[in-house]
Amino acid sequence: MPWPTHRPRRLRDSKVIRDLVRETKLSPDDLIYPIFVVSGKNHKIPINTLPGQARLSPDEAAKLAVEYRNLGGRAVLLFGIPDYKDEVGSSGADPLGPVPLAINAIKEAAPDLIVVTDVCLCEYTSHGHCGLVENNRVKNDPSLAHLAEQALTHVRAGADIVAPSDMMDGRVGAIRQVLDKAGYEDRPIMAYSVKYASSFYGPFREAADSAPSFGDRRGYQMDPANRLEARLEVELDLAEGADIIMVKPAGPYLDIVREVRNLIDRPLAAYQVSGEMAMLKAAAAVGALDFKAAALESLLGIKRAGADLILTYLAPEVLPWLGK
Ligand code: PBG
Repeated sequence: MPWPTHRPRRLRDSKVIRDLVRETKLSPDDLIYPIFVVSGKNHKIPINTLPGQARLSPDEAAKLAVEYRNLGGRAVLLFGIPDYKDEVGSSGADPLGPVPLAINAIKEAAPDLIVVTDVCLCEYTSHGHCGLVENNRVKNDPSLAHLAEQALTHVRAGADIVAPSDMMDGRVGAIRQVLDKAGYEDRPIMAYSVKYASSFYGPFREAADSAPSFGDRRGYQMDPANRLEARLEVELDLAEGADIIMVKPAGPYLDIVREVRNLIDRPLAAYQVSGEMAMLKAAAAVGALDFKAAALESLLGIKRAGADLILTYLAPEVLPWLGK
């Protein structure tokens, strides 16, 4: 197509014309806001590694949920930091643990807000691994019942969606079976299907107190070098009954988001993880980039790559900027 017949700049000439032909738009409906909950009352403990985020008791989580909903927010994702930890992560299935109590409080204060819960053992186990440990190895099959029990506890407390993030094989099917048997066949599963063993989770592990006490997560999370393997993970989770597929992290893995987008017709989520947000904040703090512009561009990139939903700590900050 020869120049000067085609001049792409014609459609960039004014803001209005750029608005008219824009291919990708961010909306409040796209965002899910991750929050951290603890037990007790009146707790709002700042998390040093995650600027702007805090560990919240259920009453404070409910206040935040109302504020978030009033900004136009639609969904939150809950992470629990329990009072006690043991070898099998039993506090994760405690109906009086921080997550079930926070679900109750949030649902009472903001019933129309969707509450997603992260289902994993790492915050609840004494060794910090996402499954049960025997002889210093993370065992797959014995972990499944514990994960399913935790998911059931969340759903019983009123969670709208459960999101398993442990990367054990077969956990989506195990959770689906247990939920169905208990009469919760209507509750969707958002599977962290393609979750890489990433260094970008650093700030989160500090926040959730979930760093493994020995070894690392490379025996169950995916090798950052692999793309084709992502297709297998997605196919397995869909076959086991996942309703929403997630890729995590998002920014450094946009090729994977696109790969999965092209593979599936189901809703796709991508998680802009703690390290991605920490980099943006740190760069903005030294004046290296404009925070608002860079934050919006990072999210737009994730959506353009093919994500329908974005999990991001930036959600409450960017909501007021959307649609302007
Ligand atoms: C739990 C879990 C992690 C994250 C979400 N769920 C940590 C991990 O796998 O070590 C990371 C979230 C983030 O970095 O923002 N398994």
